[in-house]
Amino acid sequence: MKDPVIVVTRKWPEPVEHELRRRFPSVQLNQDDTPLGRDGLSHALQHADVVLPTVSDHMPAELFEGRLRTRFLGSYGVGYSNIDVDAVVRAGVVLTNTPGVLTDATADTAMTLLLMAARRAGEGERQLRAGAWEGWRPTHMMGAEVTGKTLGILGLGRIGAAVARRAHFGFGMPVVYYDAAETVPDHGVPGATRLDTVNEVLEAADFVSLHMPGGGGNRHVIGAAQLATMKPSAFLVNSARGDIVDQYALVDALRRGTIAGAGLDVYEDEPAVPRELREMENVVLLPHLGSATLQTRTAMGRLVLENLEAFLDGRRPPCRVA
Ligand code: DGY
Repeated sequence: MKDPVIVVTRKWPEPVEHELRRRFPSVQLNQDDTPLGRDGLSHALQHADVVLPTVSDHMPAELFEGRLRTRFLGSYGVGYSNIDVDAVVRAGVVLTNTPGVLTDATADTAMTLLLMAARRAGEGERQLRAGAWEGWRPTHMMGAEVTGKTLGILGLGRIGAAVARRAHFGFGMPVVYYDAAETVPDHGVPGATRLDTVNEVLEAADFVSLHMPGGGGNRHVIGAAQLATMKPSAFLVNSARGDIVDQYALVDALRRGTIAGAGLDVYEDEPAVPRELREMENVVLLPHLGSATLQTRTAMGRLVLENLEAFLDGRRPPCRVA
């Protein structure tokens, strides 16, 4: 393909937009960063050879019906539960993602949530900014100790393992985990104990961090019954995908004290966040910042480009998922 028509659905960091413009002079960038929405995405799939969407572009099956011009979908992100993969395959479109380059940034975000939730950092900052802090006293805003407590990981892929390493080496935390895959690669997590079920992890852990993909069978893996299995002193951290957790069951569990607290970076219907969660003190809420560093977001863009160039050269893209 000589001069492919390329649509980029959202604004990318400047270094990678520069690279895109240099290599593909007629690339259509989204300078004002307005989401394309259903109609814009449909138009792009019908008129562009290449579409480069992000994890916030919802691409259900109906978008891939009928005659499409697009042959390559280079998703800017590791998770792709926002895209109907079966429909992509039926339409004969190649789909790629960006694993690996965002592992550390996302693991750092999970640890941020864990620490903030345990030590009531959001609540403390809100109190101080509101001018309501009355000074040091022995019983002021006591949180939960992190060092030495048990971390439960659901999904020991790259990111889950990076969180486990941080917890093990940095905070002396024993790690237990569940992974649906029969064997998990050795990610250098010394002494992590594999348990047979999600519930065993939930029962054993003081902190539970979610790292499985969203969508499909992982929808609402954490619901009322699972939350009831956790210790009342435990915390849930979700930096993976919002739909893994039934967020109204979580609201209920946080209200009733079924668990002590939570730290969330992702939500079922982003960017909507239930008012109940926004009004609670025992939950830390971030706006899907998992991979949000300039270094990582630039690396993600470069990997999209690497995938695209392989496709255009007739090679197998390194991160092809469909
Ligand atoms: C991803 O890549 O899947 C992340 O959620 C975006 O940071």
